[in-house]
Amino acid sequence: MVLAELIGVFIFALSILYVYYKFVIFNFWHKRGIFYVKPVVPTGNLTDLITGKVSLGELFQNAYMKYKDHRAFGMYTLFKPNLVIADPDLIRTVLTKEFGSFHDRGMYFNEKVDPLSGHLFLMPGKKWRNLRVKLTPTFTSGKIKQMFPIMKEYSEKLAKYLKEKAQTKDSIEMKEMLARYTTDVIMSTAFGIESDCIEDPNNQYRGYQKKILEINPIWIALSMFAPKIMDFFSIPFTDRNVISFYMNMFRETVEYRQSHNIVRYDFVNLLLQLMKRNYVDPDDDKKITNVSSTVNKLTMTEATAQSYVFFVAGFETSSTTATYALYELAQHQDIQDKVRKEIDEILEKHGELSYDAVNEMTYLHKVYLYTFLLCTAETMRKYPPLPVLNRICTKEITLPTNIHVPEGTSITIPVLGLHRDPSIYPNPDKFDPERFNADKIEERHAYTYLPFGEGPRNCIGSRFGYTQTKVGLVSLLSRYIFKLHSQTPIPLIFSENSFILTAKSGVHFIIEPRK
Ligand code: HEM
Repeated sequence: MVLAELIGVFIFALSILYVYYKFVIFNFWHKRGIFYVKPVVPTGNLTDLITGKVSLGELFQNAYMKYKDHRAFGMYTLFKPNLVIADPDLIRTVLTKEFGSFHDRGMYFNEKVDPLSGHLFLMPGKKWRNLRVKLTPTFTSGKIKQMFPIMKEYSEKLAKYLKEKAQTKDSIEMKEMLARYTTDVIMSTAFGIESDCIEDPNNQYRGYQKKILEINPIWIALSMFAPKIMDFFSIPFTDRNVISFYMNMFRETVEYRQSHNIVRYDFVNLLLQLMKRNYVDPDDDKKITNVSSTVNKLTMTEATAQSYVFFVAGFETSSTTATYALYELAQHQDIQDKVRKEIDEILEKHGELSYDAVNEMTYLHKVYLYTFLLCTAETMRKYPPLPVLNRICTKEITLPTNIHVPEGTSITIPVLGLHRDPSIYPNPDKFDPERFNADKIEERHAYTYLPFGEGPRNCIGSRFGYTQTKVGLVSLLSRYIFKLHSQTPIPLIFSENSFILTAKSGVHFIIEPRK
């Protein structure tokens, strides 16, 4: 009898909740006369993500392809109204012109419960602005030049490590190999630690890193679209073991450097300067800029969180880009040969792989690494590592299409959708580096290509990431010929357990040494 009553109460509560969802929560867009994608109780429009059917990027890509003609349309990410911006002019409005109304990401951030979440990517408002000003000088070309030897060292280590494998003609999974290379580079620059993942893939550093990356889709959905639930229950996003591991590692490095007066040109050194005073040493010939006396020094915890975000944001984005570039070049041997010829020319001119050689690749690319650079740009079009950009409306605003956006509305920009839109990039599944010839770029709206985001909140580490990717590719392509192994599917299948657009079961190659 009691059980029957309990079941009755439960069913009644569920019915109320259902009605509340359907007629109150899911009435948000209807009430405002804005076109929206029909939601389902209780997941809204995220059912396919939560059930692991598609990745985050593909979910928004599919919606974009169906409804882009509305320029902006409503969705429900769980119970939250989410405005998807499809039109490049409106994207410019959100990311740049009206940045004052959209300066935050609105993702889960709670420094008390999860100290590693107190970093630049997640921080809101004024805190973010102050930190961005402080951290911007850590990514100048002068600072990247100082860190270049670290990238070079590990890229050569990787190339050497692959030598034996290349001779056996075994299948090699390059996504993992390149992740080990970028992990060693970023562990060294962000934590001052020789992680040696290239040689030893099973060490603790790679183990913790995998823990960071393997995220349940429900967790992704909650942290991105329902952060208040995590806040309410004081749930840390980062695994507690990961938190204590990285906090200890950074503190030990800092204490060791301070007690032994060690100066090494890396991010730890720059963060140490921000802990001691509120600015980093300027590049040789430059004056100190952006120094505000109102900005406090970084605490140990804040500095740890920044080195953590450099690590998390920096290794997988670059390693997947390099992997996808090899994947495409392996399917286009003619382009691979052309790229290799360009690399040979520039290495011969400079005698070795140097920062200046890499820079020359950028500034004189019409002469030297022209095809190589076009290939990298086209790779990031087809496979943008961050397949969606997100913001939250922090101050209500009416967008040019007469869409009134109330404070608190989530905003999603479907980057993968834009990059694969046939009306912007004809035959979008084709790998065609010529799309990035100057005249072709001129023909397109600037906000239809967003691998590093745009506006004041764009990627702060793009120069570092781009250099690290190029250095890895140059070291490998100058020594080996890459062919696709039959195990690798065409097209690739993306993992649904990651924020990043990453291949589900790796990318396998046969690698041959050059004759
Ligand atoms: C190929 C490599 C990379 C790609 C494709 C990439 C892409 C992105 C994108 C799309 C964003 C969001 C931008 C926006 O919302 O408008 C971002 C933000 C960010 N990235 Fe990168 N990234 C790369 C490498 C790196 C590296 C190497 C670092 C650090 C060492 C880094 C650190 C950050 C940080 C801290 C932010 C947050 C910036 C802020 O909110 O102010 N990224 N990145």
